[in-house]
Amino acid sequence: MSGPSPRYRIPFNKPGLTGNELRYVADALTLGHIAGDGSYTRRCHTLLEQTLGATRVLLTTSCTHALDMAALLLNVQPGDEVIAPSFTFVSTFNAFVLRGGRPVFIDIRPDTLNLDEALLESLITPRTRAIVPVHYAGVAAEMDRILEIAGRYGIAVVEDNAHGLFARYKQKYLGTFGCLAAQSFHETKNVVCGEGGALVINDPNLVERAEIVREKGTNRSRFFRGQVDKYSWVDIGSSYLPSDILAAFLYAQLEKYDQIAAARQRIWTYYYTHLDQWARANGVQLPHVPAHCQQSYHMFYLIMPSLESRQALIEKLKENGILSVFHYLPLHLSAMGVRAGGRQGQCPVTERVSDGLLRLPFYNDLSLSEQAEVVEVVRQFTVGGL
Ligand SMILES: Cc1ncc(COP(=O)(O)O)c(C=O)c1O
Repeated sequence: MSGPSPRYRIPFNKPGLTGNELRYVADALTLGHIAGDGSYTRRCHTLLEQTLGATRVLLTTSCTHALDMAALLLNVQPGDEVIAPSFTFVSTFNAFVLRGGRPVFIDIRPDTLNLDEALLESLITPRTRAIVPVHYAGVAAEMDRILEIAGRYGIAVVEDNAHGLFARYKQKYLGTFGCLAAQSFHETKNVVCGEGGALVINDPNLVERAEIVREKGTNRSRFFRGQVDKYSWVDIGSSYLPSDILAAFLYAQLEKYDQIAAARQRIWTYYYTHLDQWARANGVQLPHVPAHCQQSYHMFYLIMPSLESRQALIEKLKENGILSVFHYLPLHLSAMGVRAGGRQGQCPVTERVSDGLLRLPFYNDLSLSEQAEVVEVVRQFTVGGL
């Protein structure tokens, strides 16, 4: 969780520019098409489709809206159950709950913090409509096993890949495993445009309806391609397409992705190598990246042994002008989660991790000297010394 942080010398997040953002935004304005699906949107679509090898990618106004579209495209009906980790952002569930779906909370693995695939079958019922793995911190969930189980029961898989753009599982890009996947370009993500997202469509049967749902339930996309001579209302839908001004900003980021990835890899690796020994001595868990996962270097977290030690370290960093933040509160214990039957002890790993997890400052422009300062403050902290 993060917000504006003017009091901090080293904030938690700063959206980074790669160079061409303002030029492309000015160009979009000059071209005169600033509604959705202009030339920069098309460029983003092509770049993402070609890089990921996805059937179709459609920019959306947020990852939340991409998930909303996924629930619409799957025709989720009242009473349908959706399995997703309790340790996630509300949008992962909300999209399906908005259609009348029932949230089913699954606990996470203690190593990668992704849904624990060993628990999956025990939660499947005849009403299960979708499984939504979240690739936490851009480290892949165990997709082979998840797809195998989902396939056996005929259940759709939608990836919430808000953190994992261009990360891979066994060499294949995240977001290309489920029939649908949702990406985020929110200002806290690796590639940003302020607010934005994308729906990745891997099932060709869903492409035409996705275009309709995204365009207020009309066949306007076909009209613009000259495939129909007028457009009209053909299905339910809403307005999920971002302005081409935002797409122009996003394109500048996407085309410099290698530069962003290199900066983030350097930051992540520095934290890991400089905190490893301290973590071992203090019973602190650092991120685990299985050998078959190429991560996105989205964040660096510590899992402290207790809520008290987590809060104390946040305070200590704050005293030194450094903002660190916790992350998700268990959704099965939220007001909505409890109404859906969630109870204490239901997802024990989620509950422990949520208490202990702390995210360190992480943004493309974080300098080596700032990072050294953060590391120094953390290393002065001893868990036993509370
Ligand atoms: C796992 C996950 N899914 C979805 C979202 C929502 O993303 P957006 O802000 O683009 O709607 C977030 C936001 O951080 C997230 O962490």
